Amino acid sequence: MGRNEELIELAMDARRIAYAPYSKFKVGAALLGSNGVIYMGCNVENASYPATNCAERTAIFSAVAEGQTEFEAIAIVGGNEDASELDFCAPCGICRQVMREFCDPDTFEIIVAKSTTEYKVFTLADLLPESFGPEKLDK
Ligand code: THU
Repeated sequence: MGRNEELIELAMDARRIAYAPYSKFKVGAALLGSNGVIYMGCNVENASYPATNCAERTAIFSAVAEGQTEFEAIAIVGGNEDASELDFCAPCGICRQVMREFCDPDTFEIIVAKSTTEYKVFTLADLLPESFGPEKLDK
């Protein structure tokens, strides 16, 4: 099993513990840090709907909270909790922008998966062209 397949399996594990009682749409993410550590994330919904956090941001914020701010790739799986098979679940615009804060647009890989055998790989630049990032603020 290669790196992408391992990340997809871990994203599926994370999806199982998603807290999505309102939408019933469960998402899991597995984020590979440049340190080799994999950080997991799931969506965490809230009765006040806008307070919801997506799986991708949960993984990124969890990593940053542990001191890791450089990343290589993220695998994402999502779908209705009752779905017998998953469709592709691409990251939302807010999550793409959060990735842009920490990830190199040309090399960071976003693995959007239905399964370990059916997945698409994009760079961040593919999914967020002409983006606004930290260097604009001289960071
Ligand atoms: N969601 C994610 O976790 N990631 C995405 O990329 C798309 C949407 C979550 C947010 C919410 O809990 C549910 O899916 C429905 O929007």
